[in-house]
Amino acid sequence: MTRQRIDDLRRELNRHNYNYYVNNAPEISDIEFDMMMKELEALEKEYPEFDDPLSPTHRVGSDINKGFEQAMHIHPMLSLANTYSVKEVDEFVSRCREGLMGEKFRICGELKYDGTSISLIYENRRLVRAVTRGDGEKGDIVTANILTIRSIPAVIQAEDAPDSFEIRGEVLLPWKAFERLNEERAYNEEPLFANPRNAAAGTLKMQNPAEVARRELDAVFYYLIGDNLPAGNHYENMQAAKRWGFKVSEHMALLDSMEAVDSFINHWDRERKDLPVATDGLVFKVNDLKQQLNLGFTAKSPRWAIAYKFPAERALTRLRFVSFEVGRTGVVTPVANLEPVLLSGTIVKRASLHNADIIASLDIHESDMVYVEKGGEIIPKITGVDTSLREQDACPVEFVKYCPSCGTKLVRPEGEASWICPNKYGCQPQIIGRIEHFVGRRMMNIDGIGEEISQTLHDTGLVENIADIYDLTAEKLMDKAGLGPKTTARIMDGIESSRHIPFERVVFALSIPYVGETVAKKLARGVKDIDTLMTADEEQLTAIDEIGSRIAGAIREYMTNEKNIAIIERLRAAGLQMEVEATGIEGSEKLKGKTIVISGTFAHNSRDRYKEIIEAHGGKNSGSISKKTDYVLAGENMGPAKLEKATKLGIPVIDEDTFLSMISNDDK
Ligand code: IVH
Repeated sequence: MTRQRIDDLRRELNRHNYNYYVNNAPEISDIEFDMMMKELEALEKEYPEFDDPLSPTHRVGSDINKGFEQAMHIHPMLSLANTYSVKEVDEFVSRCREGLMGEKFRICGELKYDGTSISLIYENRRLVRAVTRGDGEKGDIVTANILTIRSIPAVIQAEDAPDSFEIRGEVLLPWKAFERLNEERAYNEEPLFANPRNAAAGTLKMQNPAEVARRELDAVFYYLIGDNLPAGNHYENMQAAKRWGFKVSEHMALLDSMEAVDSFINHWDRERKDLPVATDGLVFKVNDLKQQLNLGFTAKSPRWAIAYKFPAERALTRLRFVSFEVGRTGVVTPVANLEPVLLSGTIVKRASLHNADIIASLDIHESDMVYVEKGGEIIPKITGVDTSLREQDACPVEFVKYCPSCGTKLVRPEGEASWICPNKYGCQPQIIGRIEHFVGRRMMNIDGIGEEISQTLHDTGLVENIADIYDLTAEKLMDKAGLGPKTTARIMDGIESSRHIPFERVVFALSIPYVGETVAKKLARGVKDIDTLMTADEEQLTAIDEIGSRIAGAIREYMTNEKNIAIIERLRAAGLQMEVEATGIEGSEKLKGKTIVISGTFAHNSRDRYKEIIEAHGGKNSGSISKKTDYVLAGENMGPAKLEKATKLGIPVIDEDTFLSMISNDDK
């Protein structure tokens, strides 16, 4: 029995570790995870005969990603003992007092930032390496991505900084940047990040530093390690790090009694909601470095520190009704409308129920008392139902079968969780959604037409579909839509400028199902012009990177619909860009059918330019080496792991000069 439970817990914890650190998609809350870990720790302590050095209790979760080079940590990156109880924090203070044999000591209280940890190594006051926590002993080298974070100094100027040192901290995505990123992802029909922590971890592991830079990560530092540190205590060392150019917590406090610790907890439990970045608790550290040394470490964490975690905020309220809302792409989303309840400082009236599967798994009934939670997420969610408070004759909530807006029977595409209204051209929210999307900032960028004006233009009959936008005149906007001269001028300017927007963005603006921003770019570059896009068959489409049969099917369906064909012809006549801009590369078929992986940095052209060159000569780019790879185009600093893999698979590794001579025209 016990053995079985221990095995189950280990297996489950390993699986959740993987979901959290590798996939950035946790399935359970931190509290649930910690509870399981505590149960396993207790069982292993009680039954030492079942202990195992490889148990998750002896390891910190791994975030190692196969695509990055790895480095050993100079000092292992341990985690912190954590608790949800103030009493256990007090017990920690008592343990320190005993451990220090009555010596006076102070505790530094600080915020526990909820991001992903990073270790930076400086040599000769220059940043030489940034490494993720990994499995605690070795992690991924992510220096190029870290250098996109503007608040991290690459070179230290301060006189009092040691030549070499290590500093550890947390990479974060501030709330504002997180919300912006998720809005973008919603538009592109990409899965949303559950919270800023997953978004930060996911971003740090991206292979393209330019995209990382766009997302605007930030970092706060909380631990300095080295031989010649400026002070003998943590607090002053952090102040020194601040002078050297690092962001450190602005809210550190030196506490000299248990009462002071408790009131620090009470203060931040209230105030943390107003911070610009996500925090999930507080950290208490013995301040004096000699005393830290005295207290030492266990196998997993320092004895001189503890993390106090804030409980996730949860409220119980009554479900009034479930409404079903249709979006631009026809997806029907269930929304729980609630009796207003106060949660993390805001009144919550609505919460997402995501899809039919979630409704079924919650087994939610009409008028149920439901638990609403707002963890790191912006949109509150229903996490459970108190069935003991259920009214006797309550019926289960059922997902609608017909579109709540136009009454059409809903369909559920095979293998998907969402129900969709198939009446694309007759369903109001879909029509208006497509107009709004078309004029959006990252599409045709027609300034002046927002949500409200899209609706007005549609209601007045001026704009039935996106092509009608190009028939608008200043007179129509003022007389029929009742817009003022300033707004009218802005819209007319926007329409004019949109004629120069590149083809890639036109493709994105069309609202082809499943074609988000990234796919639109690849698609446009793959087909090169609208005529090819309109006639390409499945085989031609799936030959393009990232386009599988599902997307190809959606493109074919869109491009064979008469209404869409008429709209595209009118957009073409209105003067929109219908082909990709010339790259200036004279193409050939020299690389036809060849798959090439680019690695490292180059002297003659940028990596992106090499990608274009490969495509112009009929080749295909790929991000990872496999049996299908024909060549690896290797620059400076190609990773040893990639080289090893290519060698193992017998794939030729060529340098840039060899590559350029392969595609050059002077056949020798
Ligand atoms: S101190 C040896 N201080 O929490 C002590 N950690 O659960 C090193 N964290 O891995 C950690 N804010 O990623 C420390 N003010 C803070 C922190 C902090 C966030 C993270 C860190 C660590 C994890 C432990």
